[in-house]
Amino acid sequence: MGRQAEQRDGAVGRGPLCVGAPHTLLWLAASLLLLVAQVLALENGLLRTPPMGWLAWERFRCNINCDEDPKNCISERLFMEMADRLAEDGWRELGYVYVNIDDCWIGKRDAKGRLVPDPKRFPNGIAHLADYVHSLGLKLGIYEDLGNFTCMGYPGTTLDKVVQDAQTFAEWKVDMLKLDGCYSTPEERATGYPKMAAALNATGRRIAFSCSWPAYDGGLPPKVNYSLLADTCNLWRNYDDIQDSWKSVLYILDWFVTYQDILQPVAGPGHWNDPDMLLIGNFGLSFEEAQAQMALWTVLAAPLFMSTDLRTISAQNMDILQNPLMIKINQDPLGIQGRRIVKEEFFIEVFLRPLSHGASALVFFSRRTDMPYRYQSSLATLNFTSSHVYEAQNVYTGEIISDLHGETEFTVTVNPSGVVMWYVYPKSLGKAHH
Ligand SMILES: *[C@@H]1O[C@H](CO)[C@@H](O)[C@H](O)[C@H]1NC(C)=O
Ligand SMILES: *[C@@H]1O[C@H](CO)[C@@H](O)[C@H](O)[C@H]1NC(C)=O
Ligand SMILES: *[C@@H]1O[C@H](CO)[C@@H](O)[C@H](O)[C@H]1NC(C)=O
Repeated sequence: MGRQAEQRDGAVGRGPLCVGAPHTLLWLAASLLLLVAQVLALENGLLRTPPMGWLAWERFRCNINCDEDPKNCISERLFMEMADRLAEDGWRELGYVYVNIDDCWIGKRDAKGRLVPDPKRFPNGIAHLADYVHSLGLKLGIYEDLGNFTCMGYPGTTLDKVVQDAQTFAEWKVDMLKLDGCYSTPEERATGYPKMAAALNATGRRIAFSCSWPAYDGGLPPKVNYSLLADTCNLWRNYDDIQDSWKSVLYILDWFVTYQDILQPVAGPGHWNDPDMLLIGNFGLSFEEAQAQMALWTVLAAPLFMSTDLRTISAQNMDILQNPLMIKINQDPLGIQGRRIVKEEFFIEVFLRPLSHGASALVFFSRRTDMPYRYQSSLATLNFTSSHVYEAQNVYTGEIISDLHGETEFTVTVNPSGVVMWYVYPKSLGKAHH
């Protein structure tokens, strides 16, 4: 749901603990801090790498017209057909395992206050859908809203319903919950999101927890406490909903880059910033823009939730989404979010994400609208300080660029609204991928 995000510029710096303290004291303080962090971090063990899968909202919205549009309405049929595609078309093996329901599945609450799906559109119930999805080696995600209503006006999870709803989701064998924030106050969110995290934990079922909490509080400190979020949620929507256009991709990207000093350090295994779904396969992006969204979301260590019709997606768009090296980078075990490190005044930008084994991902991104731009740089210019000799593999073309020393000048040709993406690794490691 669209809210106007507030613009704030108060970057929060984390000062050193105690400058000049004796080594032992500092060490003690550091270990104590580590201990506290371990105790506080959300310990459901889930999402050590960003989640991957399919989420209904961007493409299928709140289409409940099953009489006239049975193939595309929010119904068990839609989720089963997407699950079939994930299982049969090579998605599951690459890690796209979540099949996630968004708004508009709820019918009502029954006499005991329990959530009941719409009986016409989900005639076999959510537990049946979960069983089906699990039988294909996939996971099921569901949606609720911490408030009087969901964003589209269905029954919400008010504070008195949080525990009951968590139990219902666990009984249905749901694997992820996206908890939206429409029709709630800041105070209700401050109580409700941690309450839901505790209620999910108390069910004993490991359910990944996706929180829209920060997006409703402007996404930035001091209103948003990111360490508290990481203790509460596995991922969170920081900012506005994505729409099917390049303009929307840039709008979200700009916000994430503007506030990268705040957002970049708070991501890591088990807790991720979520710039929202991938548009690839829909109507708003050109081929270059689709490649760019995939590359940029990957350097941002973003969840990869597709929201497109997997029954009719083109081979070209599948290639973008199923690029094995891209996914390996997105799923890097260190889980470090990348940053924009260069912004040229001629509308070329460079993003860098550090990866395991001394490797890195580089994305050269063009915001130009004229013609392919020949951009010259060197690894030394791009913050590479070690004396290693590197190789780079172009993530989309597979081309190998050999013998890159720090000072070696190279030229990449970046198309308008497009990217060149490199996987850069010390040559001593050998070719990392094919
Ligand atoms: C619940 O939290 C505890 C510690 O906070 C953790 O050890 C346990 O694995 C969690 N259980 C679930 C089901 O998330
Ligand atoms: C939720 O409903 C209650 C009871 O009708 C009402 O008092 C409250 O203001 C509502 N909250 C919001 C945020 O709309
Ligand atoms: C943020 O939340 C943490 C608990 O996770 C707490 O220790 C810290 O004091 C909070 N920070 C602020 C500025 O409120």
